[in-house]
Amino acid sequence: MTEQIIIDTDPGVDDAVAIWLALAAPELEVLGITTVAGNVSLSDVCRNAGSIIAKSGRQDVAIYAGSHGPLTGTQRFGKYAHIGSFASLLKDEGSVAVSAEHAVQFIVRKAQEAARQQRPITLCALGPLTNIALALNFSPEVAKGIKRIVMMGGAFSAMGHRTPWAEFNFYADPNAAARVFRSGIPLVIMPLDMTFQALLTEAHLEVLAHDAGEPGRAIQHLFTTFDRNDPGRFLRDGGPVHDATVIAWLLEPELFQGCEVTVGIATTGETAGYCWADFYHKLKQQANATVMRHIDEQGFHSLLQRVLAVYGSKGEK
Ligand code: BDR
Ligand code: CA
Repeated sequence: MTEQIIIDTDPGVDDAVAIWLALAAPELEVLGITTVAGNVSLSDVCRNAGSIIAKSGRQDVAIYAGSHGPLTGTQRFGKYAHIGSFASLLKDEGSVAVSAEHAVQFIVRKAQEAARQQRPITLCALGPLTNIALALNFSPEVAKGIKRIVMMGGAFSAMGHRTPWAEFNFYADPNAAARVFRSGIPLVIMPLDMTFQALLTEAHLEVLAHDAGEPGRAIQHLFTTFDRNDPGRFLRDGGPVHDATVIAWLLEPELFQGCEVTVGIATTGETAGYCWADFYHKLKQQANATVMRHIDEQGFHSLLQRVLAVYGSKGEK
């Protein structure tokens, strides 16, 4: 049986890779794409999502626009927010329109249906957790329809990249992250510590551009334009594809190693957005998350290349 997922996202070039990966994988059924302001504004993430879906050829997948900003506090955007939507860079002829239903209503409706049918769904959270926190606040029944939330967020030994202490998704809405951490739903967290271990190089981009059709060429173009190389930090060539690890974990969990821990987040003060994990069980509390600590880099690239080849002449859709 396929795994039913909702992708909550703020595309984002790494969100784009995650979405193309999920849409190409026969093991996953994408019920919908919900958007949240994050990397760029809500209207720009919706425009990007429309163009990503159009490039995949999966116009049957609907987009639901969600939150314009965090539950409370200052709105933060990504490093490239000044550029706005990347849709025009992709020279798209087509795009997928945004549905009338709000993202939070969609998540609530699907989770309630899933609870009734006793077939809980997986939420893939690739941006700030605002929509998901609002959906959980809607009614306690919502949590019963959610099997797990697999999210990209946090930084532990790697420390932050958006600030010295925080990773962007948690920093952009720490209160939403705190709400989700308290939910009791099984959580799987992909932090920077792990996403920094799997870097996409020019050689990988060449392979994708050659083998993965329109999405492959778009990935090469986007990762060249929004350069994620940081040799000072990674001490080698290549840039991370953070959000794609969420989908990769669903497809091949054996590529990852993680541990069950208690995680929490600072929501106020100078270090708001800082996420901590009790790796040495100092608190003696029951774990609320599984934090991924290692990824098999070669295995990750092989997975990307194999699954995304569906979009090229070597694969079949
Ligand atoms: C996360 O923030 C965004 O810039 C990326 O899309 C990813 O979800 C990494 O910190
Ligand atoms: Ca993202």
